[in-house]
Amino acid sequence: MTNKTSRRAFLAKGLAAGATVGAAGTANAATPDPLITEVQPWASGLGDGVDVSPYGLPISHEADVVRRNVEWLTADTISSINFTPIHALEGTITPQGCAFERHHSGAIEMTKGDYRLMVNGLVDRPLVFTYDDLERFPRENHVYFCECAANTGMEWAGAQLNGVQFTHGMIHNMEYTGVSLRTILEEAGLDTAGDLKDKWVYVEGADASSNGRSIPMEKALDDCLIAFKANGEALRKEHGYPVRLVVPGWEGNMWVKWIRRIEVMDGPVESREETSKYTDTLENGTSRKWTWEMDAKSVVTSPSPQSPITHGKGPLVISGLAWTGRGAITRVDVSKDGGKTWETARLAKDGEKMAMTRFYLDTTWDGEEMLLQSRAMDETGYVQPTKAQLRETRGLNSIYHNNCIQTWLVNSKGEAENVEVS
Ligand code: MTE
Ligand code: CO
Repeated sequence: MTNKTSRRAFLAKGLAAGATVGAAGTANAATPDPLITEVQPWASGLGDGVDVSPYGLPISHEADVVRRNVEWLTADTISSINFTPIHALEGTITPQGCAFERHHSGAIEMTKGDYRLMVNGLVDRPLVFTYDDLERFPRENHVYFCECAANTGMEWAGAQLNGVQFTHGMIHNMEYTGVSLRTILEEAGLDTAGDLKDKWVYVEGADASSNGRSIPMEKALDDCLIAFKANGEALRKEHGYPVRLVVPGWEGNMWVKWIRRIEVMDGPVESREETSKYTDTLENGTSRKWTWEMDAKSVVTSPSPQSPITHGKGPLVISGLAWTGRGAITRVDVSKDGGKTWETARLAKDGEKMAMTRFYLDTTWDGEEMLLQSRAMDETGYVQPTKAQLRETRGLNSIYHNNCIQTWLVNSKGEAENVEVS
């Protein structure tokens, strides 16, 4: 079968399905559609000039595609969080304007002129870089996801937040431009060919919280980026303007914003953010620490509670996102019956390392109730666990690193709800 005939067959099937529902049925309607047959106001006058929005904003009809917070989760807006509207986005790139924010002491404002980055500690040549200095080193571009370790953290004990924006929206995926951390460390005289076993870097931000974190040298020299652009433009203030650290595949907390200092050390600092916070208390009261990598995870973004099925029976596109901190996504399966049976989804393109992958299941919906799930697999052979499997090993005391399979109950009206299956 050629592509042309298969496409025609698909369209024919689609029309037939539409006709059986007899819903809009516009294509066959006896009454002509005025939107096609009559001259509309937008064709009877002139549109806006190019001077109306020098920096373009989304059209007003898309005003609900915005970051949102959960009131009871966010006692104040300074040490706070909001969530990416992943239910309303497609593809994989998150526009900066709706990419979630997490601040421990508010988003600070500084100019490129006031920006300084110090590299000190166990280096031959401690240095201070200006923003202009950073722009003179060779640049790299990479798409990476940044997921807060607390993403899905409210779902440990039971299904709680009714929307994928809230259960899974502490994530964004952008194209970063920057200089490799390796280049900056080498400039400061770090002998990257020498014995760096047990060496660490300690990174801190210029904000009051400083958000200090220790990173093992192997990771620092592998793929970390000193980034100053996201999706082609300057970082937004809330994402660390003018410069942030990018730590591919590792928990968002390590992606220090407004980065001001990198110290090469003999060991980790064991700062607040890596002892009292960002560790995972287990059932027996002991805690896991140094859990930096984000495990493979996926979720159906549509249909979902904020994105119900509105078109009735017939062709249905199930759309979702998958990602893993251990490399690339290789496969995603989708279940409509709460995990009893699975179908392999179509990846929009091959999985890329430490970046989001869009998956689709192009299916037909007969109006039956569905328990929708997705299950990601990555190049290490790791398979995303069920909630029950995760609870078996981690108990119920954790907040961070919840990567379990999510279930949406879709009813016969197409409305979806956050549920758990046992
Ligand atoms: N860096 C600084 N300097 N201050 C912060 O509060 N928050 C961290 C990290 N880097 C933080 C920071 C946390 S917990 C996360 S999840 C990410 O930044 C969030 O990055 P975003 O606000 O760009 O989404
Ligand atoms: Co975080």
